[in-house]
Amino acid sequence: MNDFVKDIWYFAGVSGDVKTGKLIRTEIAGEPITLGRKQDGSVFALRDVCPHWAAPLSAGRIVGDTVECPYHGWRFGTETGQCTAIPALTSDSDIDPGKIKVRHFPVREDGQLIWVWMASDKGAAMPDVEPPSIPFAATKPVIDDILMLNCPMDQAVIGLLDPAHGPYVHQNSWWRTQNSMHDKEKLFEPRHLGFAMARHTPSSNSFAYKILGGKPETEITFYLPGARTEEIKVGKRTILSLTVVSPVTKETSSIRQLFFTDMLKFKALLPIARAGALKFLKQDQAIMNLQEQNKNHDPKRMYVGDADAQARWYFAMKKEWAASRAEGRGFVHPVKAQTLKYRS
Ligand SMILES: [Fe+2]
Repeated sequence: MNDFVKDIWYFAGVSGDVKTGKLIRTEIAGEPITLGRKQDGSVFALRDVCPHWAAPLSAGRIVGDTVECPYHGWRFGTETGQCTAIPALTSDSDIDPGKIKVRHFPVREDGQLIWVWMASDKGAAMPDVEPPSIPFAATKPVIDDILMLNCPMDQAVIGLLDPAHGPYVHQNSWWRTQNSMHDKEKLFEPRHLGFAMARHTPSSNSFAYKILGGKPETEITFYLPGARTEEIKVGKRTILSLTVVSPVTKETSSIRQLFFTDMLKFKALLPIARAGALKFLKQDQAIMNLQEQNKNHDPKRMYVGDADAQARWYFAMKKEWAASRAEGRGFVHPVKAQTLKYRS
């Protein structure tokens, strides 16, 4: 538990986070990263630590195809991380800047989503899988909230996947209560580095769905390392929520929730929808942080019954992904298509 998944794409932000000509700082899986967007519109990522005196490159500036450190003006190529200039050297110096590198991370911008490849090998290992293809994330998000969690990523991910805490953690009269708990049977199927709760009509106790009108259908998909989408379709219209848990350090993580939609009715309801979604997110944050009170008391966990199956799958996929990479073989998906039965 609590080791980072490597050789995989991590969600690093949305397009609007990285403005043209600007650098921002983020931290993913213990690595400080600066993301920048060049004049040609492309996004790049470098380790946000100058190899000279460790100043954050994000406080510097973009000059053409390089990033310039704010401290001594060293420049690093945005595509390789290779040093191209050390201004303090005289012209007769025999020091070769090209031998100095800052770590470079491959980046993909797909629709509105930015992904950074975190390789297990800090060398030049290039991505050999594609980032998750998230349909419907090509327009600007209409809701965007982020909360910090005082807990490791694993704890947050299994909380995100947990179907059984709703009636307790999210006891809201307009959503669901313990009295509305009932037996559920949901069909799950494996997906590329993830799994999905197959498209279905959501349970009738979900009052929030009722206000959307029509007959909603929903599909919930999880993608390793920590993204979950819920795609709600009502007629030809879609609401897509994307919730991503990201590891910041070994001990802390963040949870970001984005909504995309082409449904005018939902756009009209945005202030209410956002308040509701944020309330949910804060309830999850509260229980996840609360669990940390016992982090030094050897909290053994049990993964019991079908309600905890998705947590088991998450750990099994992490383990198998790491093993398949280490052994240089294909990923053998540990999840088989099946129906889970639980009460919530
Ligand atoms: Fe929750």
